[in-house]
Amino acid sequence: MLETINLTKKYEDGHLAVDHLSFKVEPGEIFCMFGANGAGKTTTINLFLNFIPPTEGTALIEGIDVTKEPLRSKDFVSFVSENVMLYGSFSAYQNLDYFTKLAGKRGLTKADYARALKSVGLQEDAFNTRSRNYSKGMRQKLGLAIAIIKDAPNILLDEPTSGLDPKSGQELLNLLVKMRDQGKSVFMSTHDIFRAKLIADRVGFMKKGRLVMLKTRKELEGEDLTELYIQYMEEREG
Ligand SMILES: Nc1ncnc2c1ncn2[C@@H]1O[C@H](COP(=O)(O)OP(=O)(O)OP(=O)(O)O)[C@@H](O)[C@H]1O
Ligand SMILES: [Mg+2]
Repeated sequence: MLETINLTKKYEDGHLAVDHLSFKVEPGEIFCMFGANGAGKTTTINLFLNFIPPTEGTALIEGIDVTKEPLRSKDFVSFVSENVMLYGSFSAYQNLDYFTKLAGKRGLTKADYARALKSVGLQEDAFNTRSRNYSKGMRQKLGLAIAIIKDAPNILLDEPTSGLDPKSGQELLNLLVKMRDQGKSVFMSTHDIFRAKLIADRVGFMKKGRLVMLKTRKELEGEDLTELYIQYMEEREG
């Protein structure tokens, strides 16, 4: 489970990027967070990962306060960033092996890696080539394969479908649904209303660091999500 309680981040320059944010992502749930550029989505993810300290409030991963136990909390989460960091001189296999061992997993075979790489739809001729020349989508897929192999109960994704071709985007979402069905908590920031609508169990809108709208799939039935989003962004100040 992922949870924030009054999570707040004021950057050093005084900018309030996340403002008393409280929400939960239960096991077996996909939470999609929308919001304008600069609304605080990436900051929220960075707070979960303890890349930056909160000014106030708490982020919890499996009930573990990420500022109190940063290392232990990371055992229970996988992160797929918008710009997946890879070792350029390593192949897909080598990156997967490196990051898997870094996450403390041992005893995985090349067949396990191949299975993960196939499941994310990375083309087989890339398995053994250096990741330096991978396209954005290929990097994204490898990042997701790393997350799949880690098999953590929680997964954070920052705009995972941005830059993916339509088929790859769909495949990625199918994988997230599979992870959700395995009981994982999935939190993603996205601008892709059309696709997220199909898979989200809960949808949140962030505006100026605050959660201004939170609805379940059921509550959204019959709603036009794009229309709702525009309404919230235009009309309801604050
Ligand atoms: N290191 C920083 N120092 C000061 N301000 C920052 C810093 N990082 C982000 N911000 C500000 O915090 C706000 C939230 O940024 P954030 O990256 O969380 O937005 P976002 O919702 O992820 O936007 P996008 O959709 O464009 O990715 C923005 O106004 C941004 O300028
Ligand atoms: Mg962002």
